[in-house]
Amino acid sequence: MASTTTAAPIVRTPSDATGEYRDMLLRLMTRQFYAETATAEVFGRSIGCAPTLREKLLAAEFAREEAEHSGRLCRLFEGLGVDPEQVFAARPSAAQFWSLDLDNWVHIAVFNFTVDRAGSHQIMEYRDSSYKPWADAMGSVLADEEGHYGNGVENLREFARDKTFFAEFQQVYFGMLPVTVKRAFGRPTGADNDYCVAVGLKRHTTEQVVNRYLGEMLGYMRECGLKFPPLAAFDKIGAELMPSTRDIILSNQ
Ligand SMILES: [Fe+2]
Ligand SMILES: [Fe+2]
Repeated sequence: MASTTTAAPIVRTPSDATGEYRDMLLRLMTRQFYAETATAEVFGRSIGCAPTLREKLLAAEFAREEAEHSGRLCRLFEGLGVDPEQVFAARPSAAQFWSLDLDNWVHIAVFNFTVDRAGSHQIMEYRDSSYKPWADAMGSVLADEEGHYGNGVENLREFARDKTFFAEFQQVYFGMLPVTVKRAFGRPTGADNDYCVAVGLKRHTTEQVVNRYLGEMLGYMRECGLKFPPLAAFDKIGAELMPSTRDIILSNQ
């Protein structure tokens, strides 16, 4: 996918991030911080409900990695003179934010395949962000996330082997994907999006990022027979979709 802009100047230090740029940077970092701390919490809780020892050990490993990602954001906040405890105190509960049952293994498996990966696609943008301290901190985070998604795909394949379990996975996915598209990516158009791309905080439009995310998923979904939720499920919760995104969703109903 071609970069939308490369002309924006690089912001090398926290004191160079000022005004509108700093405000938007803090908004994006806060969104990522909510996601990192939520995934740490979800994987932590999933140690309890994972069905096998192997899955419990992986959940513990992923929780530690998500906590480490959260810690990176804490240091970036501190660099900008913001107290991470205060950002955390304003965070909505993970269960509420993602419509999740944290004690249900199917929910956790769908979360891992769906929500955690949406976060990764945002981080791919931040890795190339014009705010250098943030970009520099994201490389190894993405390496961890590859491992999380690998496990998410493996779980999907595992569920696909059993008709009853897979039907349940499909149902939970129908509920969780629209929420993910709405909450993880936000509105696909608007002045905020244009600003982020213009100043290089992100390198692609939200439409491009969402489509890249869904396109990646689609390959694994086709392999396993998982379908996208009907468009009505997105419309119902007010998840806005561009025509190109609707086409991807319609291609696998
Ligand atoms: Fe993470
Ligand atoms: Fe993750």
